[in-house]
Amino acid sequence: MPDNPIFAVAAKAEALRARGIDVITLAAGEPQAATGAAVVAAAIAAVRDPAAHHYGPAQGLPNLRERVAARIATDTELPWTPDDVQIALGAKHALFLAAQALLGPGDEVLVATPGWPGHAEVVQAVHGVPVPVPADEEFRVSADALERHRSARTRAVILSSPGNPAGAVYDRAALHRIAGWAAAHGIWVVSDDIYRAFDYTGTYSSILQVAPGLRDRTVLVGGVSKEHAMTGWRVGWLAAPAEIIDSARLHVSRTITHVPVITQRAALAALDDDATPAGAAHDYRRRRDLLVAALNRIDGIGCPVPDGGMFAFPDVRGLLRDRGWTTSAELAQWLLDTAHVAVVPGEAFDAPGRLRVCFAVDDDTLATAIDRLQNVLGNLVEAR
Ligand SMILES: Cc1ncc(COP(=O)(O)O)c(C=O)c1O
Repeated sequence: MPDNPIFAVAAKAEALRARGIDVITLAAGEPQAATGAAVVAAAIAAVRDPAAHHYGPAQGLPNLRERVAARIATDTELPWTPDDVQIALGAKHALFLAAQALLGPGDEVLVATPGWPGHAEVVQAVHGVPVPVPADEEFRVSADALERHRSARTRAVILSSPGNPAGAVYDRAALHRIAGWAAAHGIWVVSDDIYRAFDYTGTYSSILQVAPGLRDRTVLVGGVSKEHAMTGWRVGWLAAPAEIIDSARLHVSRTITHVPVITQRAALAALDDDATPAGAAHDYRRRRDLLVAALNRIDGIGCPVPDGGMFAFPDVRGLLRDRGWTTSAELAQWLLDTAHVAVVPGEAFDAPGRLRVCFAVDDDTLATAIDRLQNVLGNLVEAR
């Protein structure tokens, strides 16, 4: 079985670096910044505290779950308690725990395409069947499209807003229609909110804010990975009805026992620091605008402005046609070899003819990457 294609790009970039080549990677799905000093200090304090050296509860530290519950209460405008929350080893593990709780072998889960491959992977990991649902031109799946792909085996839909790779944010009306469809057919909604802090249009809503009645069939997934530059620490969560949390806790207890206490303490410090995501979102928005404008100045590239997230998702079909490449993967490989800039080919997201370019890097890195791309791709057009 192939590994996640996004990691394959990172491995190629790493191989060039090992040969001493100065590669800039805009391929990773993670902020380039180091984790904040307050979080690091909390982790060091935890390392030094013997209370953090021993087993903890399978469900996660009560004070971390309390903080997560408070945050979800703000987003959903509904009451949540620490009992409603399970701490996981990152959002991907939380998605896996949701999938193992919800699915039997052969149960189908609707996932958006283009979409993050991890959504299909967690479904497959528990012997479920991911069913790709084509997104509209704004990279959102509609209730109508979901209905066209529903079968007697459909158990759940995974939604992500803002999304990966295109940063699409679902507005209230779209969420309302999807919630109505899910309620009518008894389908669970798994809402992957990992990019929640990166909403540049202010239009983000939780599906439970729009449709509180769906609460007994909704799993909310989140984590500190993206918004606190903590992808390596592996802390995320799910919030869900008791039957799902019970199943997730049991699975955690039987497998990893619990998420390390030290990283949970670090995550708690991160959640206490609301300033970081707001500051990062401010910077990312500026870098998004810079990158999108620069890409749109290259002949053969058309780049929509993403409403959220941390990726530009340009259409490069004109470039492929003009230069005689057949796939985005060839273009990405050529960019890596000639410009030493790593980006992810659209094929990784089932979107041939596109590239995913991360703008969660510092200003200098982004400026150098843009220079390199413009140098090798040339033919700048007047700003559109
Ligand atoms: C949509 C989406 N959900 C979840 C994740 C995984 O997050 P974590 O690192 O917390 O497991 C990613 C990572 O790229 C993602 O893009």
